[in-house]
Amino acid sequence: MEALVSRALSKTYRGSRGTVRALDAVDMSIAKGRLFAFLGRNGAGKTTFIKIATALLLPTSGTVELFGVDVVDHAREVREQIAIVPQEGKPFYHLTPREHIVEYLRVRGATGESAKNRAQEVLQGMGLVQYQDIPAMVLSGGLQQRTLVAMVLATEAPFLFLDEPTLGMDPFARRQVWEVIRRAARKGSTVLLTTHYLDEAEQLSEELSVIEGGHVLYQGTAEALKSKVHLEIRLQFEGGFTTQELASYGQVFTEHGRVTLLTTRGRVPELTQRALERKTAINVGPVTLEEAFLTLVGRTIEDEDAEAAP
Ligand SMILES: Nc1ncnc2c1ncn2[C@@H]1O[C@H](COP(=O)(O)OP(=O)(O)OP(=O)(O)O)[C@@H](O)[C@H]1O
Ligand SMILES: [Mg+2]
Repeated sequence: MEALVSRALSKTYRGSRGTVRALDAVDMSIAKGRLFAFLGRNGAGKTTFIKIATALLLPTSGTVELFGVDVVDHAREVREQIAIVPQEGKPFYHLTPREHIVEYLRVRGATGESAKNRAQEVLQGMGLVQYQDIPAMVLSGGLQQRTLVAMVLATEAPFLFLDEPTLGMDPFARRQVWEVIRRAARKGSTVLLTTHYLDEAEQLSEELSVIEGGHVLYQGTAEALKSKVHLEIRLQFEGGFTTQELASYGQVFTEHGRVTLLTTRGRVPELTQRALERKTAINVGPVTLEEAFLTLVGRTIEDEDAEAAP
């Protein structure tokens, strides 16, 4: 069964600075219970999609159904099925992490006892126990974000929308959050998350889609996306080679001074040898989602429009 289906979903923002077509005929479907990553550069349309799917924003045209229910026609019904970590959300400054979770669960209809127990479990899973009674205003940014994510994951809502849940977290905290997200998915929640960390998407998600300029360019597994890159090895250089020289070995990308070459296994020994002769460091590994994204979109996920403008 599908948990989310969007059909020809479009959104045009109209304002004093002109019109922006943020979504253009987006068709997407997410199976129930799936852990799904939504990827795209800044301004690709991810948050707009999430806002429409969570009944916070009206589409210009097209439809979204959650568990078979139209989100525009039945917004209230849909809201009971979902919980959202909004992009750049802020906690309530005078409430502690524990209070955030308990109060939110109570508002959503849990009894006091079960809310307390759930809170304890999630605080533990998210590494928040030692901060549980500290008002959010004196917590660091990463801990405030963890509080928001804990509050939402504690709901175990059938559909969890997480817009950049791990933004600003240290690598250790990110891994804790992944574990709690995985647990929610194992218990049956469907999860849609956005992230600019492609390693995170690769490790965490079972399926993903890539959006660029309001168009969905890909939906499927990370593995299948990587296999579209026909070269299996990536090498990164810190200088020492000219782009022209490298082009004879495969496909070359240069961004922000870093040179990446995609090539075949057989060419690696020769390139390594040459790099050593030239005293240049190289980094060799299998093709990652990073290169797959670059090949599909033509730009890296961090690439800003302003920088790329002629
Ligand atoms: N309220 C608004 N009014 C006008 N334009 C908007 C509004 N919200 C978003 N946009 C524009 O719509 C496009 C899509 O924005 P959106 O926030 O959905 O992107 P995103 O993929 O979430 O980006 P990011 O990775 O930076 O969060 C962008 O061009 C953005 O400038
Ligand atoms: Mg966004």
